[in-house]
Amino acid sequence: MAIAAPVAPVVKEKQQLLAPRLYKTDIDILNSLSIDRCRDEFEELRRDFEADYNRAHFKWGPEVQNVEYQALWDEFYEFLNRSSIGEFSGCLLYSDVQKHLKDETLRAIYRAMGRDEGRHSSFLNWVMRHMGRPFDLAKLPDVKGMSYMHPKWIFVTTYLSEIVGFYRYQNISDHMKLHPEFNFHPIFDYFDNWCKDERRHSRFFALMMRSQPHYYSGWLSKLGVKFFTLAVYITMYLRDEKSAVYNAMGIDWEKYDFKVIDETEEAAHGIWGVAIRTKTDYFKACLRKMRDNNRANAKGRLHTDWRKYTAIPVRYARFASNILQYAKLMFQKHDWVEPLPRSEWTKTCCDPGDASVLKLEGAIPVTLRRSPMRSEPIPATA
Ligand SMILES: [Fe+2]
Ligand SMILES: [Fe+2]
Repeated sequence: MAIAAPVAPVVKEKQQLLAPRLYKTDIDILNSLSIDRCRDEFEELRRDFEADYNRAHFKWGPEVQNVEYQALWDEFYEFLNRSSIGEFSGCLLYSDVQKHLKDETLRAIYRAMGRDEGRHSSFLNWVMRHMGRPFDLAKLPDVKGMSYMHPKWIFVTTYLSEIVGFYRYQNISDHMKLHPEFNFHPIFDYFDNWCKDERRHSRFFALMMRSQPHYYSGWLSKLGVKFFTLAVYITMYLRDEKSAVYNAMGIDWEKYDFKVIDETEEAAHGIWGVAIRTKTDYFKACLRKMRDNNRANAKGRLHTDWRKYTAIPVRYARFASNILQYAKLMFQKHDWVEPLPRSEWTKTCCDPGDASVLKLEGAIPVTLRRSPMRSEPIPATA
């Protein structure tokens, strides 16, 4: 049975090397996997999920009613929309999978993760409705439009999207605490606890991979892990470079992305034992080359005269160059590291490092907040 599994937001961006898409996986295979090897750890995680630490967290305070969006009408909406699609697709996946799972422990955990992603998605959707620009579900493909991915790789990619989500939210939150003048919307005040949900989700998928060591033991599997990890880093980088919202947050988007990538890598290589050298100039140069290719292609698309015809072959040459950069990163030497010992399997990954490095020099603060405030709180689902 095929189950929809979101890995990344769905946005049609043909100029990217890897356009994000939705995936589906196989519930029969999922049901055939035994987690008995790590049953105690899964039970510990289940108790953590069922404690539901954020039960009361996602309730808007009155200040959200006193926001005007015009100053960042498109930039902020793009950020909300992109986040919302990721959260909503996670909600769909986890809620759907839990209905079909036979293992009681896994079912309880998936149910809790579906609950969390539903809250996150509702919270973002509320803001878009408040703007008068509600989230358009029609942009999500139906099951037929999704690509199949084996559970082995769904665990890898979902783990990555959760841990990247944790570091993305947490770094923004830490930056806002250091520079409250850039905290232009109340939603950022919720990121601190919000991202703890993402960290719990990532712990679950890390444990899921550890419970199936036969999936990830061979060198071919390690190469597959490297391939998907690079895909996540590259997609994030190429999407963020087009987003103007980071300027409004007072964040240097590239420093932010490289920080998130390094921190994700630090956590992830403890799972599978392959460390990609993300801090090298070589790694950064490959990503920047892809960025420059995409920028040049975007420029080429603007031509309306004869140059639009000559732009087409050049565009394909740049696509080929992007594939070459990807291949270069695949062939870049990696390090074999010792995976984390079992005693640390249920521990959380490290908090992000110093956020003061993220500040964009010369950024001018913009705020959407205005006064006076309403008095009653508003439920997130209103
Ligand atoms: Fe989430
Ligand atoms: Fe999540």
